[in-house]
Amino acid sequence: MNSNPIGIFDSGLGGLTVWREVRRLMPGEDIVYFADSLHCPYGHKPVGKIIDLARGITDFLLGKFGCKLIVVACNTATAAAIDTLRSEFDVPFVGMEPAIKQAALHTKTGVVGVLATKGTFDGRLYKATSEKYAQGIEVLVQVGDGLVELVETNKINSSEADSLLKKYVRPMVENGADQIVLGCTHYPFYKTQIEAIAGDKVTVIDPAPAVAKRAHELLEAGGLFTGNGSGTDLFVSSAETGQMRSLLENTSALSLVDTVVEWNTNKYKALQ
Ligand code: DGL
Repeated sequence: MNSNPIGIFDSGLGGLTVWREVRRLMPGEDIVYFADSLHCPYGHKPVGKIIDLARGITDFLLGKFGCKLIVVACNTATAAAIDTLRSEFDVPFVGMEPAIKQAALHTKTGVVGVLATKGTFDGRLYKATSEKYAQGIEVLVQVGDGLVELVETNKINSSEADSLLKKYVRPMVENGADQIVLGCTHYPFYKTQIEAIAGDKVTVIDPAPAVAKRAHELLEAGGLFTGNGSGTDLFVSSAETGQMRSLLENTSALSLVDTVVEWNTNKYKALQ
């Protein structure tokens, strides 16, 4: 038994789509969510820089909160840094993996689309996953430039988002994709819009539930669950948290939240 919190981090607010699933699956666990909004987006940053940022956040989550498990709720940070984090820190990590396996298993057309950041596509993990699971399947890759920033600035339902999504999604569907994998944790915020653009013959896959399940398995295997009680949430950001708050409100997730905390260059301020 271990009553320390689970740590979840992302380059910004996208990892909230993962937090949502972890919270649903493990209502008794305390969670600390860290958004690195100061350095967002990570998508085009050099690998070494992302490793430094991920290392700093991990240090913070372990040092301040003693997190018992860390979910790297960012595909780009997973691609760049998870091997380093696992080798440097003695705590279990769960990373994001584009759900190519699930897409490859379910496609009827033999064509699947993956929407992710440049950093994710450049990583070894993406190449290994697609080589392993997408044998004989055509994979259409699309970098989703601009989509992360629109989530960060709370413009999910904007005409800018709509035109970017159409630009990215339509060619995949026109080229036969019947599965679209959301390979960036910011993108599930657009799931309804993507489904509307793609049409009802296309399945849009969000890997977050599988990641939450993996975190559950690791806690179970290590005997690390909190005994009982109801879990609390702490939301921490490296920059101004107004967007985080409105995003939580807009997605009706705030009802799941007990405490919101802001992290501003090491200064903590309780918002509620
Ligand atoms: N949520 C991050 C991911 O899953 C976004 C990366 C970025 O900041 O560009 O890749």
